[in-house]
Amino acid sequence: MTEVLHKVVDESRQGEAYAPFVNDPNQFHKKFYIESYGCAMNFSDSEIIASILHEEGYGPTREVEEASLVLLNTCSIRDKAEQTIRTRLQAFKKVKERNPGMLIGVLGCMAERLKAKLLEEERLVDIVVGPDAYRSLPGLIAETEGGQKSVNVLLSREETYGDIAPVRLDSNGVTSFVSIMRGCNNMCTFCVVPFTRGRERSRDAESILNECRVLFEQGYKEITLLGQNVDSYYYTSADGVDATFAHLLERVALISPLLRVRFSTSHPKDITDDVLYTMAKYHNICKYIHLPVQSGNTRILQQMNRTYTREWYLHKVQRIRTIMPDCGISTDVISGFCTETEEEHQDTLSLMQVCNFDMAYMYSYSERPGTLAARRFTDDVPEPVKSRRLAEIIKVQKDNQAISYKLDIGKTFEVLIEGNSKKSENDWCGRSTQNKVIVFPKVGNDLKKGDYVHVKVLQATSATLIGEIVELN
Ligand code: SAM
Ligand code: SF4
Ligand code: F3S
Repeated sequence: MTEVLHKVVDESRQGEAYAPFVNDPNQFHKKFYIESYGCAMNFSDSEIIASILHEEGYGPTREVEEASLVLLNTCSIRDKAEQTIRTRLQAFKKVKERNPGMLIGVLGCMAERLKAKLLEEERLVDIVVGPDAYRSLPGLIAETEGGQKSVNVLLSREETYGDIAPVRLDSNGVTSFVSIMRGCNNMCTFCVVPFTRGRERSRDAESILNECRVLFEQGYKEITLLGQNVDSYYYTSADGVDATFAHLLERVALISPLLRVRFSTSHPKDITDDVLYTMAKYHNICKYIHLPVQSGNTRILQQMNRTYTREWYLHKVQRIRTIMPDCGISTDVISGFCTETEEEHQDTLSLMQVCNFDMAYMYSYSERPGTLAARRFTDDVPEPVKSRRLAEIIKVQKDNQAISYKLDIGKTFEVLIEGNSKKSENDWCGRSTQNKVIVFPKVGNDLKKGDYVHVKVLQATSATLIGEIVELN
C-alpha cells in the first residue's frame, strides 16, 4: 500500500485530502496525478477515472513531477472556479518544460463548457474530456502520445458508469460517495450544470445496491448517495419494476442497520413525503437534508426558474420538522441575482431567520456564459452590492448557526468515528446524524475508526461540537 495525493479542491467547500490507493503501486508502469475541483459528483467521477486508468496500467502518484499524465477534474459553476484552474495550469507550465513528454488533461465541467476552445486558450493542455466521455480516455491518451491533441466532449443520454467499480480516492475507509444519477433537467437560469453534465439519467438500482454492499463488506459505514437532484431518481428494471428515490433509499438502508445512509442534493420541488417517512422509519438514514433555497423572494425564485415559491419552501421545511423534529437542514443561497432589489434581498434574510439553517453555502451571483440568465437578463446588481448582501447573509447564518450549535450542549448524539481530529491525535472526530462535526477525547484503546459511540456535548463553537463519550443505560 502506498499513500498518494488526490487533491480535492472545492472552490466553495474548500476540501483538500490525501488518498491511499488500495492496489500495489509497483504493478503499474506509468503514473498519473489527479486533482479534483467542484462538487462531490466530480470527486466521485475522479474515482471512476482512476479505475479506468488502473485498467490501462496507470498507477497513482502524489508527485506531479513523477507523472506522465496530469489531470485536472474541473468545475465551471462560478467564474472563480475556472480562474482557479487557469492558475493551476500556469503552475504546471514549468513542470512540463522540464518534462516535455508529460501529458496534461482537463476533464469535467470546464472541459465540457469550453470544448476544443480550451486547447487554443491553454496551449499546454493536450487532452480535453467531458463528464460523459471518460471511457474514451485510454484512446485519447494513445492519440495524444502519437503527437496530436485530442478532445471528446460528447454528452450521453445513457452513460452512468454503472458497471465501473470506482477506485476509492481520499478514503478514510469509513465514508464514501455513491453516484446514483447524472445530469440535470432543471434548467435553473443561473446554472451551468445542465450544459456541462447533460440530461438527467438514473443509474441501475441493482448496480447501486451492489456497490453499497461491497463498500459495507469492505468496512465502510456511511454512504452518501449523490445526484444533482436525487429526489427525481427513477429507474425501471428489465423486469419492469420501478424504483423511486424513496424505494432506493429504503433498499440501501436495509443492507445493514450499521450502514449509515446520507444523500445530496434535494430540490425543494421534488422531495416527497415518501422520502421523509422513509427517513423517519430507518434509524440508519441520517436525519439531515441539504435543501438549497437560493433566494427567499418569490419573484427572484421565478426568475431563477426554481419552480417553487417562498411559501412552498417554508412549507417543505415545516413538513420536514413535523415528520422529523430532530432533522438537520442546510441550504445554498445566492446573493445579487439579476434585478434583485434591496427588499427582495431582505426576504432572503428573513427566510433564513425563519428556517434557522444548521449550515449554509453562500455565494454571490456569477454570470455563466450560455446560461438562460446570461441570455435573458442583465447582470445588473453591482459587485459591491452583491458582496455587501452576501456579507449580510453570512452574518445571519453565522449568528443562527452559533445558536443552533449552542442548543446541542447537554445533548447526547450517536457518532460514527471517522478518524483523528485535525487538531490532535488524542481526539476522535465524527459526525452526528444531523451532520454536525463532533470532537471528543480518546479513552481506552478499544475504539477504532468506523465504530459508533454516544457522545455528550459539553461545548460548542459555530461549526464544531466538543464532547465526551458516555455509556447509555
Ligand atoms: N443541484 C443542486 C441544487 O439545485 O441545489 C446544486 C447545484 S450547484 C452544484 C451548487 C450551488 O451552486 C447551487 O445550489 C447554487 O447555490 C450555486 N450556484 C450555481 N450557479 C451559480 C452561479 N452562477 N453563481 C453563484 N452561485 C451559483
Ligand atoms: Fe443547477 Fe438547478 Fe440543476 Fe441544481 S437543480 S444542478 S442548480 S440546474
Ligand atoms: Fe462544478 Fe460541475 Fe459540480 S460545474 S459544481 S463540478 S457539476
